[in-house]
Formats: sequence, C-alpha cells, structure tokens
Amino acid sequence: MNLDKKFQKLFLNVVIRAAISSFNHVGKKNKTAADKAAVDTMREELNKIEMKGKVVIGEGELDKAPMLYIGENLGLMKGPELDIAVDPLEGTNFAAMNLPGALSVIAVANRNELFTAPETYMNKISVNTSESDVVDLDYSLKKNIYNLADYKNKKPENMTACILDRPRHKKIINELKKLGVKLKLLSDGDVSGALLVTHDKHDVDIFLGIGGGPEGVLAASALDTYNCKFQGRFIFESDKDKKRASVMGINDFNKKYELKEIVSGDSIFCATGVTPGELVSGIKMNKNEFLAETLITHKSCGLKKVIKTKIKS
Ligand code: FBP
Repeated sequence: MNLDKKFQKLFLNVVIRAAISSFNHVGKKNKTAADKAAVDTMREELNKIEMKGKVVIGEGELDKAPMLYIGENLGLMKGPELDIAVDPLEGTNFAAMNLPGALSVIAVANRNELFTAPETYMNKISVNTSESDVVDLDYSLKKNIYNLADYKNKKPENMTACILDRPRHKKIINELKKLGVKLKLLSDGDVSGALLVTHDKHDVDIFLGIGGGPEGVLAASALDTYNCKFQGRFIFESDKDKKRASVMGINDFNKKYELKEIVSGDSIFCATGVTPGELVSGIKMNKNEFLAETLITHKSCGLKKVIKTKIKS
C-alpha cells in the first residue's frame, strides 16, 4: 500500500520546524542543546499528525544524546500505522560549530516496512545504479572500483569516493589513494554523504565505509526513490549490542542487508538544512520569517526535489 500524498506536507512541516528550533542554537558550541531543541520540536509536531506512528529508528543512544526512542508511539493514535525513522539533528557538531552540513531528517513507511535498527555502526556502500552486481560490500575495494569504473566508462582516477574521515578507514583511504581515486572526506554527516551519489552535480561516484546504522537506514529511504544501490551490514561488537539486536529480531549478526530489506515498501524522506550544505541550504532569517530548504522524496510518486518554504517567525 502506498503512503497518502498528504503525508508529504505533514512530514515536511515536522522537519522544517525541527530545523528552525535547532537553528536557534547554531554556533553556540552546545550540540546537546541543539539536538534537544530538534528532538523536542519533532516530537511535538509528530504528535499532531493523524497516525499511529512508532519510532523504529531513534537517534542518540550512541552518544547519550537526547532522543526519540525506539518503540515510542507518536501521533494522534488514529489513522494509518506508520514506522518512523528520525535523526532530528544530523551533524550535531556542524550545528554547534556553525559549520556546513547540519540537517533535520525523517523517513516514514507503513508499519513493518522500515527496518528497526539498533544504534550501532554499519558498514555501508551506495552507488547510483540499481544493477545488482556492479559493487558489493563483499567484493574487494579494488573490484568495486574497477567494476564501477567499467560500468561508468570512467578511469579510476576520474572517480571520487566519499567516506568519513576516521582512523578506522585508514586502510581503505590508503587503498583508494593507491588506486588513484579522488577522495571526498567527511568530518561528519554520512546521511548526506551517502546521498551525494544521487546526482552528477555532486561529483561522487561511490560512498562507502562505517558510520551510524540509523543514518544508513535513513539514507536508504531516499536512495530507494533515486533507484540507487545501497547495502549495509551492522557491526555488533559487544555482547550488549548483540543482545539488543536479538531483542529487535536480528539473529544473524553478520548479515548484509540489501536496500529492499531495509525499506521494503513505499517511503517518504525529508531532510531540511539547519546550516547550509551540499544537498540543501540552511535556515535563513528574512525580517520576520524563516526560509527553509528541504530535500523530499516519495518513492511511489517518484517525487525527489528540493522545496523552499517560508515560515513566519
Ligand atoms: P551526530 O549528528 O549524532 O553527531 O552524528 C554525526 C555522524 O557523523 C553521522 O553522520 C555518522 O553516521 C556518525 O556520526 C559517525 O560516527 P562517529 O563520529 O563515531 O564516527
């Protein structure tokens, strides 16, 4: 069953309001306050919607941030049963330091059509092709790069790989350098990193590496509408992580998830810029109104566009 188009507007409003709340904390060097503002507003706005909503991806447990927790019921408790993934403030450091790339993000699907993921890391890969065997998490890095180069009719040295700049990626980064691939190193923010493969204007051929699992699920929703490929493998290191995963129904701790196993049906994705970034600009103030930019996608309608909105302050 497809999601009603009326939800586009309703969830768009949720992320815009959350982004505006966070915007008031931009550049104040307090990421917890910026996150909490977005969380509180998101909860308040989601609770106004006619739906039986349930949070399947909440954000915050990894870093003990304020959170909308997994299993939390949201909405007026009448209307359709929806699964909700949230990252009220993606890029908390960006907001605190007034740097580009902070977003307020949500993804919504019908009940049981969005993966319930614990707050662990995930090894991810995304490219702009839905062909199944061009790249794969199980291939070597070299094979992925050469296959993709062939597929795109490009030389590896004319390709760009986007990855979080972390010590855990040292080996991959060195290998990419050896292959001559250009690097786009992110200091944070791998929801938008994964989405840079969606359009040639961003000049990113492949996104890969380990980042947050929740961020992976959110990105998968938008990537589905762009017909891109996404795979993710959760990383469960501690017994505590494995226990939590089991409670959520995950028994194979090494499973590689295809996009369709993460988002199995229709979904709506909205990401509003808090600070300016590559996907959307940040909140701007103009006299007595806020100007917001939101990337919205809706799989069943093929909707994928950036919407500009004005809201009275
Ligand atoms: P926050 O917004 O929660 O600070 O997350 C930012 C982020 O860069 C995510 O985009 C990414 O998935 C994750 O942190 C990576 O985690 P780590 O900083 O531990 O490598």
